[in-house]
Amino acid sequence: MELLEAIERRLFDELNPKVRLVLETGRYLIEGGGKRIRPLITVLTCGMCGGDPEKALPLGVGLEYIHTASLLHDDVVDGASSRRGRRSANLIFGNGVAVLTGDYMYAKALRIFATYGNMEMIRLVSETVMEMAEAQVLELSKVGEVITEEEYFNIIDGKTAVLFGACTAVGSMVAGYPDPRTLRRFGIHMGRAFQLVDDILDYTGDPSKTGKPVGNDLREGKVTYPLLSVLDEIGRDRVEEILRKPVLSEEDVEFIRSEVIRLGGIERAKERAEEEVRKATHLIGGFPESSYKRELIRILEFVVLREL
Ligand code: IPE
Ligand code: IPE
Ligand code: MG
Ligand code: MG
Ligand code: MG
Repeated sequence: MELLEAIERRLFDELNPKVRLVLETGRYLIEGGGKRIRPLITVLTCGMCGGDPEKALPLGVGLEYIHTASLLHDDVVDGASSRRGRRSANLIFGNGVAVLTGDYMYAKALRIFATYGNMEMIRLVSETVMEMAEAQVLELSKVGEVITEEEYFNIIDGKTAVLFGACTAVGSMVAGYPDPRTLRRFGIHMGRAFQLVDDILDYTGDPSKTGKPVGNDLREGKVTYPLLSVLDEIGRDRVEEILRKPVLSEEDVEFIRSEVIRLGGIERAKERAEEEVRKATHLIGGFPESSYKRELIRILEFVVLREL
C-alpha cells in the first residue's frame, strides 16, 4: 500500500538526532515494525474530509513519534522486556537512554507540529500528551486494586484513546473541516476499542503475532476489562486477595487468566469493543463515499478482529 510506504519513509527521514545513541535507540524501535495505525488514520481522515492527504503526512508522522515515545516510556514503567517481537529498548539500551530518547521523540513531534501545523493543533497535541502522562500515572496509582469500570475507561481514554482522537482531529483540521470535535470523538471511540482489544490480547493473544507476552497486565497488578466483566462470577474477594500480594505467582496469573476465559470475559470485552466501533462508524456515516472512508471503515473492522 502506497500510503504506508510513504509513512515508513517519512518516519525514518524525519529522525535525525545529532547524538548517535539517540538515533540508534529511536531506529531500533521504529525498525521493530508496528502497525502505524495512528499516521494512517490521520492521513485517511484528512482525505475523507476533503483535504490533501499529503499535507497530513508529516503531522501523522509526528503523532507516530508521540506513540513511539509513549512506548519507550511505557516499557520502562511496566518493566517490559519485549516489544514488537524483539527485546524492548529499555532492556537493550537501559532505562535512562530509553526515557531520554522518549523525551527527544516527544519534543521532535512538537517541532513537527510547529513547522507543519498551527496553534490549534499544538494545543490539542500538548493536551493529549498531558492526558496520556496523567492516565499512565493514574493507572500506576491503581496497581493491585480492583478498579471500577469508570476508572478503567478513564485510564484507557487517557493512555490510548485521546491520541487516536488527536490523530483524527488533526486530519480533519488539515482539511479545514469545520467540526474537528466530531472527528476527535470518532477517533476516541476507535481508540477505546483498540485498547479494549489490546487488553484482550494480553489474555489470549499469540505472542508470535502481538510481539509481547500474555498475562503481563496481571503480573503488573493491572485489572482490565476482561476481568472486570466477570468479576462477580469469579468472586471479587478472591480476586482482591490474589491482587494484594506484592508478587503474583505464575499459578495466580494462570488461575485468573483461565477463569476469565472460561467465564466469557473475552467475549464480553469484544462486545464492548464492538459497541465502540459502532459508535465510531455512526459518527462518520454522513461523509460521502470515498476510498479514504472505505479504508477507515476497514481499519475499524481490523481494530476488533486483529490478532496483532
Ligand atoms: C500499543 O500500541 C500500545 C497501546 C496503546 C495498546 P500498538 O498496538 O499500536 O503498537 P504498534 O505501534 O503496532 O507496535
Ligand atoms: C498502552 O498500554 C499505553 C501506552 C503505550 C501509552 P499498555 O501498557 O497496555 O501497552 P502495551 O500492552 O505494553 O503495548
Ligand atoms: Mg505496557
Ligand atoms: Mg502500560
Ligand atoms: Mg497492553
